[in-house]
Amino acid sequence: MRVAVPAESQDGEKRVALLPDIISKLTRVGLSVAIETNAGLHAGASDESYIEQGATVFSPSEQGKELASADVILSVQPLTPSQVSNLKSGAITISFLSTVNANESIDALAKAGATALSLEALPRISRAQSMDALTSQALCAGYRAALVAAELSPRFFPLLMTAAGTVTPANVLVLGAGVAGLQAIATSRRLGAVVSAYDVRPSSAEEVRSMGATFIELELEALEGSGGYAREMSEERAAKQRELLAPYITKSHVLITTAAVPERAAPRLVTKEMYQAMAPGSVIVDLAAESGGNVEGSKPGEIITVGNSVLLWGGKDVPSQLPFHSSYLLSRNIVNLLLLMVKDGAITPDFSDEIIDAAALTHGGNLRKGS
Ligand SMILES: NC(=O)c1ccc[n+]([C@@H]2O[C@H](COP(=O)([O-])OP(=O)(O)OC[C@H]3O[C@@H](n4cnc5c(N)ncnc54)[C@H](O)[C@@H]3O)[C@@H](O)[C@H]2O)c1
Repeated sequence: MRVAVPAESQDGEKRVALLPDIISKLTRVGLSVAIETNAGLHAGASDESYIEQGATVFSPSEQGKELASADVILSVQPLTPSQVSNLKSGAITISFLSTVNANESIDALAKAGATALSLEALPRISRAQSMDALTSQALCAGYRAALVAAELSPRFFPLLMTAAGTVTPANVLVLGAGVAGLQAIATSRRLGAVVSAYDVRPSSAEEVRSMGATFIELELEALEGSGGYAREMSEERAAKQRELLAPYITKSHVLITTAAVPERAAPRLVTKEMYQAMAPGSVIVDLAAESGGNVEGSKPGEIITVGNSVLLWGGKDVPSQLPFHSSYLLSRNIVNLLLLMVKDGAITPDFSDEIIDAAALTHGGNLRKGS
């Protein structure tokens, strides 16, 4: 059976769904792989490196024909409706495919009779951890957030004892201590900053402390929801949280926000009044800028000056800013999901498996539950 990987066409998308080093896992079970020319360039993979691993390379003008003959199509972003129109009925697609903002693609995939698996819909159970692309990409985003903050800050992160005087370490505050937040904490700590963090889930406190950071305890109700995620907060609680966090924000040189609630706009954690109290030269990195922003006024893909000479960086396509390793991890997530469906060289999605059941948004010409 044939696996095709088209080049990503969305602006700013530098990842690739399959890197050459993992192709042998597919060829070993009898699958053949075809990839569009230059698809892996940003991620450091040349066409030759794919060919060396047994893949064939097709040109952009051959994309329609390749999609039409493929049994499985792997991509990072959802296929466009025009790409979907080429698919044969029964084709399987694996990509990010959000029920919040990719409904046009989902409808087209259903109409085309494709089985569309969404990396965003995988259940967060132990067996699915090796396929968990949300986690692998959040890890990349958290690491990148700390590096961006360090680069934009006019201060050192570490403590330095020099003949000219002692440099005190930067105070970094991280709001939201999930996968991205914990990686931002770990990276800031490695650079020597003094780090503190807050999350609405009390279970994150131990993880924050294990990274050598201080967990900020607020006199507020916990918001732990199902599946290890946070719950949405009421406006009253949000206002109280902002009031209690304000003095911590004023004291920090660097603020990194990563808070999210599944299928909701990002919670507003920081208002204009709060960053107006920050010292000149402070830096804010808002990883949630694309989903509404944790910080008032943040703009995805832009660095703006706010308050009293504070730099506010809005994240956009953040995992894509580290295309080699985000693709490296994503390729493994995707291949693990694909291999779950391979039996005796054939690809057969088993809907009695809770991973496939949750991830498949379309099948047999229909939308499936939840999509
Ligand atoms: N396979 C698994 O079992 C698995 C995989 C990944 C994550 N998880 C669990 O899920 C947790 C969250 O995952 P995520 O990072 O993808 O979540 P996420 O991206 O949805 O949210 C990021 C963080 O923001 C926090 N947050 C939400 N509202 C907030 C607010 N108002 N103020 C401060 N913080 C707020 C959340 O609690 C979360 O820690 C992980 O830490 C882990 O415990 C489990």
